[in-house]
This record gives sequence, structure tokens and C-alpha cells, in this order.
Amino acid sequence: MTTTKAPVITVDGPSGAGKGTLAGLLTQKLGWQFLDSGALYRVVALAAKKHQITSDDIPALVRMTTALDVRFEHQAERVAIFLEGDDITDQVRLETTGNLASKIAPIQEVRTALGQRQQSFRQAPGLVADGRDMGTIVFPDAELKFYLTASAEERAKRRFLQLKEQGLNVSIARLTEEIQERDARDMERKVAPLVPASDAILLDSSVMSVEAVFEKAMSYVKARELA
Ligand code: C5P
Repeated sequence: MTTTKAPVITVDGPSGAGKGTLAGLLTQKLGWQFLDSGALYRVVALAAKKHQITSDDIPALVRMTTALDVRFEHQAERVAIFLEGDDITDQVRLETTGNLASKIAPIQEVRTALGQRQQSFRQAPGLVADGRDMGTIVFPDAELKFYLTASAEERAKRRFLQLKEQGLNVSIARLTEEIQERDARDMERKVAPLVPASDAILLDSSVMSVEAVFEKAMSYVKARELA
């Protein structure tokens, strides 16, 4: 008997390029499952902080990651994230949490411990997976791979407007600096660095609207007969 794996579409790229938006639109349109792998790394970072596990205690980090009690709950307007029963959604989205996650993400043992959990999202009728290494490491056999980029200035500007909307006042210069620091850490690390898969389709969202990026992506989805 042959088992057919559910199809996967991967969306990788640097922070703030619009991966979440594109992946969310594709998920909705196709009615597929969704994996926000960045959220998993963010939750691991928060759990380590909560349990006071430092990044040099690898065995404790691995035990904690393997047993991680995390739940994603689809609510009307958002996906709520629970760690050990507590709603940590707002904390997960903080810029400081993203930075913390990128410091734990280079640890191979943590990535391996998260690997199986990520694979388990691959269910019928299909999966849209958002992250840094979805197309290169976790789902190298994905049917369709996108690599979404935008200039650091454009990404900082978008993030600035988002935070302003939430009533938070931050300096755009500081945001640009933080984004560039995090990109450098993600791209230059030895383990699962952020690089486009050799078979990924490159999309630059600094020169395209959200709708245009989605339309372009959908044209590939249709061409590969995934819709
Ligand atoms: O995508 P997001 O900004 O939520 O990711 C937070 C951090 O988690 C990234 O900066 C990166 O260091 C790490 N990450 C990763 N591999 C993934 C997804 C996220 O290393 N597949």
C-alpha cells in the first residue's frame, strides 16, 4: 500500500516581509492547515524564560521542547496561543520575543526536537508552512516553495505602522537596526540558515501590494494544479 503525503506550500523569508499575511491568505483560499513555525520558536523561547532554562543547558532545553504544552486556538479574529494553559498570544508577538527566539533557534538540538511537531501539521487536504527553513530543511519535498523578501527599510516601516496602530511609540531607526540584527543572526547561523531553497520562487513585496503578491502566488498554485 502506498501512502500519499498531503501537499505542502512553504513560505520562507526574513522577518516582516509579509510571510504571515501571504501564508494566511493562501490557507484561507485553499482551506488547508497552517503552520506558523516562528510562533513555535517564540513559544520555546518564552517557555525557557518561564522555567529559567538558559541556552547553554541543552539537555534541559531539549526535554522542555519535546514536552512543550502549546495549543493554537482558532478564534474569530485571531489565532490564540496557549502555553501550559495560559494565553500568551500578546507576549508571543512582541519584538523582544522574536529576538529571544532567534537566539535559541541556532541550537540544532532544539530544531530537531521541534522537527517532528512541525511534520505533524502535514495533514489533508494540505499544509501552508511559514518560516525560515520550511522549504530547505523541514519540507524539502514541498510541492511549491516561495521565498518572500522586502527591503529592511520597508519592513521596518510596516512594523512601525503596525505598532503605532497598537498605540506603541517606537523609533523607526531602532526598529530598522533590530530587524537587520535579527536577519543577520538568522542568515549567518551555521544551522538551518535563512536561504532560499534552490527551487523556491522569489517574490519581493517591497515593490508589490499584498493583493499583487497573493495573486502572483495563486498563479503558481493554479499552474501546479494545487487549487
Ligand atoms: O517568523 P518569526 O519572526 O515569528 O520567527 C522568530 C524567530 O524564530 C526568527 O527570527 C528565527 O530566528 C526563528 N525561526 C527559525 N526557523 C523557523 C521559524 C522561525 O529559526 N522556521
